[in-house]
Amino acid sequence: MKQKIKIIKKLIIIFSLCFSFSANAQTVEEIIKGRKAMFSENYQNAKKISILLKSKRIKEAKPLMKKISDNYIKLLDYFPENAKEGFKTGALPSIWENKDEFNNLMKKASDDMIKLAKVIETAEDLRAVQKELMWSNCSACHSKFRAPH
Ligand code: HEC
Repeated sequence: MKQKIKIIKKLIIIFSLCFSFSANAQTVEEIIKGRKAMFSENYQNAKKISILLKSKRIKEAKPLMKKISDNYIKLLDYFPENAKEGFKTGALPSIWENKDEFNNLMKKASDDMIKLAKVIETAEDLRAVQKELMWSNCSACHSKFRAPH
């Protein structure tokens, strides 16, 4: 009986260890590479949007706007305290010194993509609204929070 209880106790410890490891599964490498991949995907999609809108293919461009918006929201969780350096990150320390400002820019960039999807239907100057609601947010954030490249 005692032997059995010992085994059960051991099993419980092993299970809870497995569980706590899997709960914090993302390593610093995964976080930094993950955020780079999302920014790259956003860039590819932003370029696709520009091309589609040149030929007024609004319907096809809209899901890409939503995708960029969703990525920005996910990105809010990709700048934890332990992912400041390494793995060729271009993230500047100013992010962690001004976390609220950084997060607000990210949320604004996300909201603006939803706005863009709305106003694009009726906008007269497609290039101007793209500049205002999409491209300007990239440079506004990069100028302060991304290393020159
Ligand atoms: C709120 C801030 C913010 C916004 C908005 C933003 N970026 Fe970035 N971007 C960053 C940061 C920070 C990095 C550096 C990430 C890293 O290397 O860890 C980055 C990196 C990148 C990279 C390099 C990814 C790689 O593979 O290293 C590209 C490309 C990029 N951004 C494009 C864009 C484009 C295009 C937009 C607008 C459509 C945009 N970003 C909007 C903050 C932002």
